[in-house]
Amino acid sequence: MNTTTKQTETAGPAGAWNGSNPVAVITGASQGLGLALARGLAERGWSLVIDARTPERLAAADYELSKLTTVVALAGDVTDEAHRADLTEAASNLGGASLLVNNASSLGASPMPTLAGFPLDALVETFAVNVVAPLALAQLLLPQLREHGGELVNISSDAAVEPYEGWGGYGASKAALDHASAILALEETTIRVWAVDPGDLQTQMHQDAFPGEDISGLPLPQTVVPAFLRLLDERRPSGRYQALDLVGSRRTAADAEVA
Ligand SMILES: NC(=O)c1ccc[n+]([C@@H]2O[C@H](COP(=O)([O-])OP(=O)(O)OC[C@H]3O[C@@H](n4cnc5c(N)ncnc54)[C@H](OP(=O)(O)O)[C@@H]3O)[C@@H](O)[C@H]2O)c1
Repeated sequence: MNTTTKQTETAGPAGAWNGSNPVAVITGASQGLGLALARGLAERGWSLVIDARTPERLAAADYELSKLTTVVALAGDVTDEAHRADLTEAASNLGGASLLVNNASSLGASPMPTLAGFPLDALVETFAVNVVAPLALAQLLLPQLREHGGELVNISSDAAVEPYEGWGGYGASKAALDHASAILALEETTIRVWAVDPGDLQTQMHQDAFPGEDISGLPLPQTVVPAFLRLLDERRPSGRYQALDLVGSRRTAADAEVA
C-alpha cells in the first residue's frame, strides 16, 4: 500500500458488524452520487472501500460513514494502477468485494468545449478516467465478484445515448463504457453487469457542466439511491438501466427535504 494513501478501518455500531458483511468498492465516494450510494449501502450494513483524489473531502466522508459501518478510505486517482491495486487489496482484506461501483468520472473540461476545439490531452484524460480505469478496476476485482456472484455497476449518463453539443468527449466516453458494460455482461455470466444512468442530479459535476447556472432545482443524489438498492434487491439481469425508471418518478430537491 503506498504511503500517500489514507486508510481507516472502523467497526460499525454494536450488532451491525458480524464479520460477514458484504463488501462494496465505490469510486468517487467523497461527494455527490458516490457518497449517497455509500451512505445507502452503509445503512444496510455493507462494508465499504471508497476513494477520491482530494484527501480532505474523503476524510470527511470516511468520518461520517465509519459511524455506520466498516470503511477503508483510500485517497487516490482511479487512473493510477498502484491505487487500483490498493483498492483491490483492501476489498480482499475485508473478505472480497460483492459489488463494484465505477462512479468516479471526468467531464473533460469546464466549460465544455466543442469537438472541433477539444484539447486532445483532455480527451485522453476523459477516456482514461471514464473508460480505461473502470475496466482496469473491474479486471482486478472480477475474481472477487465472481467468487461472491456479485454485481458490477458502471455509472452511465444520458449523454451516452443523446448527442448534446459540447458533450462530445464525455458522451463518447460514456457510450464506450456502456458498450464495454454490455460486452462484459455477455462474457461474465456469473455476475451481473449494470450500466446505470442516474439522471440529472444536483452535484458538483453537474455544476461544472453548467457553470454559473442555478441547479438548485435538480434532484439531490440521494433521491436515486433507491433505484440502485432495487437493482440489488431484485438481482435484476445485466443490462442498461435508468434510475428514473426504477424509482418510478423524478423526485425534486424539495421532495427529498420532506422525505
Ligand atoms: N450529476 C449529474 O447530473 C450526472 C448525470 C449523469 C451521470 N452522472 C454520473 O454520476 C457519477 C457521479 O457524478 P457526480 O455528479 O456525483 O459527481 P461529483 O459530485 O463531482 O463527484 C465525483 C466524485 O468522484 C471523485 N473523482 C473524480 N475523479 C476521480 C478520479 N480520477 N479518481 C478518483 N476519484 C475521482 C470526486 O472526488 P475528487 O474530485 O476529490 O477526486 C468525487 O468524490 C459520474 O459517473 C457521472 O458521470 C452524473
